[in-house]
Amino acid sequence: MNMDAIKAGIKEALALVEDAKQLADFWAKYFGKGGEIQKLMAGIKKVPNEEKKAYGQAVNEVKVLAQELYDAKKVEIEKKAMLARYEAETLDVTLPASGNGAGNLHPLTCIKNEIIDVFAGMGFDIFEGPEIEDDDHNFTRLNVLKDHPSRDMQDTFWLTDELLLRTHTSPGQIRVMDNQAPPIKVLVPGKVFRSDSDATHSPMFSQMEGLVVDEHITLCDLQGMLDQFVKALFSGEVKTRLRPSYFPFTEPSVEVDVSCFKCGGKGCSLCKGTGWIEVLGGGIVNNKVLENCNVDPDKYSGLAFGIGIERIAMLKYGINHMGKLFENDIEFLKQFKA
Ligand code: PHE
Repeated sequence: MNMDAIKAGIKEALALVEDAKQLADFWAKYFGKGGEIQKLMAGIKKVPNEEKKAYGQAVNEVKVLAQELYDAKKVEIEKKAMLARYEAETLDVTLPASGNGAGNLHPLTCIKNEIIDVFAGMGFDIFEGPEIEDDDHNFTRLNVLKDHPSRDMQDTFWLTDELLLRTHTSPGQIRVMDNQAPPIKVLVPGKVFRSDSDATHSPMFSQMEGLVVDEHITLCDLQGMLDQFVKALFSGEVKTRLRPSYFPFTEPSVEVDVSCFKCGGKGCSLCKGTGWIEVLGGGIVNNKVLENCNVDPDKYSGLAFGIGIERIAMLKYGINHMGKLFENDIEFLKQFKA
């Protein structure tokens, strides 16, 4: 038996081994039951006695060599498998993290907060009333009497004969005066509801009511406060202008215009060439309303205003359709970072 040829065969076979499966096959072929090594050992029977010792040694050498080469190959293959795994599981720590994008406040929340900031700086408190109101608070005690045509100014969602979704935040005036004696300085933010829907109207929108009741409150106080408000919200350059208007709960009543913050008053598409933009309604609290709340009109007077928050947001951000503020389109909302 040519042991050198067998050794060469083992080397050659192992040289071809590339993975764990082939290595296991090699092991089975040489060291397995009935494998090459066992066959060599069994062959000793046919060897003449005087050669048995040398033969046994030679077979042992083959066995030792095969084992050594096998062990070395095993280490090599395991190392290769490990490297392949490292390669496959590589993590590029220099890649930018995917991250959880932080959200931002809704533009209406931003405007609401800005308005509150301005008036809180003048000493206003906040009061929030219910969204479901009764006829009394929403209309009657605000001097909007039953069957009076001014009820048609607001398209009401009635729930029952007496209950409705508040059409404005003005019932907050009644609720505050019922619970607090003058001096009063309060803001009433909240959702309001009217059956109305187009580019600049939505069945649900938000208002911010303002109410001040004290001795000697006049229209000048109203204009002074609103002047500061529009300067803070739009720009330090803008001015206000009061125009006569009508609300049953204020007398006199005014519409408040702001000089166009886009064109500076020269006339542009935003102000429709007039140089002025209507921003809110207000006035001096009607004596009848004070009386309805047991406030003495001979001693006290009040001012009130109602700001449409969506309207301010649309003007300030150049939004042309009110619906955009309620669609919750993330791409749209992303643009407004507080
Ligand atoms: N409540 C009125 C409206 O919704 C606005 C307003 C408030 C007017 C306070 C005068 C005083 O149209």
